[in-house]
Amino acid sequence: MPTSRLYREGKATISSGGAFVNDAAKLTRDVGVAIAALNGPGLSVLDPTAATGLRGIRYCLEAKAGKCTMLEINPTAYKALRANISRNKVAATAINTSIQEFANSCREKFDVIDLDPFGGVQPYVYDLMKVAKDGTLFFATATDTAVLCGAHHAACVRLYNAVPMHNELCKEAGLRILTGHIARIAAQFNFGVEPLLTMNYKHYMRVHLRLRHGAASANESMKNIGFMSHCAKCMERGTQRGLVPKELSCESCGSRLMLSGPLWIGKMQDKKTLQGMCTAISGDSGTLERLCGELDTPCLYSIPKITKALGIKSVSPAKVISYLEGHGHRATVSHFDASYIRADVSAEEVKAAALAIASGKD
Ligand SMILES: C[S@@+](CC[C@H](N)C(=O)[O-])C[C@H]1O[C@@H](n2cnc3c(N)ncnc32)[C@H](O)[C@@H]1O
Ligand SMILES: [Zn+2]
Repeated sequence: MPTSRLYREGKATISSGGAFVNDAAKLTRDVGVAIAALNGPGLSVLDPTAATGLRGIRYCLEAKAGKCTMLEINPTAYKALRANISRNKVAATAINTSIQEFANSCREKFDVIDLDPFGGVQPYVYDLMKVAKDGTLFFATATDTAVLCGAHHAACVRLYNAVPMHNELCKEAGLRILTGHIARIAAQFNFGVEPLLTMNYKHYMRVHLRLRHGAASANESMKNIGFMSHCAKCMERGTQRGLVPKELSCESCGSRLMLSGPLWIGKMQDKKTLQGMCTAISGDSGTLERLCGELDTPCLYSIPKITKALGIKSVSPAKVISYLEGHGHRATVSHFDASYIRADVSAEEVKAAALAIASGKD
């Protein structure tokens, strides 16, 4: 018999009833609920992978959702889900069904959809677009980060139709592959996507997008599909727009570029959502703190990787940031790793900063 435990999170108290409760995913629930609250109250929420209902119940209690529909395919989890809805006295409906079955018969369209499966999102996104409408907040968690980060190259090509990066840019490329994948499926339903908040957190990738209906929005969103490039020799990096990569060689040194995509090359954060979320929740381990101040550019540099390539002693990322700022550039740390910086400069400029700091000339 699976064990049952009582778990408190936010304003919800749930019993696991032998089903899956993952404390490590708390931040992903906190952020989803906070973004919904910024857009509420009274929203209709679909929690399509509900398990014990913790996520959906929090939407009801904390984001003041008007109602919440929760799907759960597993009978044991469904039993716990029903008990937890009663325990928390929320306006929620539990259905013991699959996403696929539900989406093909449902006539309702939801304001918020928060997909949180085991592993990858790709089996579900297509069906969920059938219950989305103009303005839907589409949130998704992916835990198949080894696939998205290129440890399983063939799986990424097969499941996301995208070539991953398997180097220090893999998490950045992975989050953009995930965003681009959802954007391309959304476009088939004439939805454009606007990223509100996207993040890499522990072994989660989490995207919060707003869907905009209409062929024009979908076309606009497809303009953000392209490739990330990386030069293994000089470390230059960049992005290219379009479904076909145009540049195959590095502009700086002429070496063959490593390309990843198709993926999302557009903005990854919406300032207003980010500020609202940062005011609403104080969170874990610096991830949110860094996210709140982070520059929204794909130009990401691993400082340890750069100092290693230069053969110099390690330098602090904070020093590189102040050096670049002192030279008129914008630079911040990255939310998913404090040893990475984002900066609107070339690799040569980051290398020059690291060299100057290491030799005491900063
Ligand atoms: C990671 S858990 C969800 C955790 C929950 N959202 C939370 O935050 O605590 C994924 C759940 O989705 C359910 N599931 C898997 N495939 C499904 C499908 N096709 N339709 C509906 N539920 C599904 C699983 O049984 C499992 O309980
Ligand atoms: Zn190069």
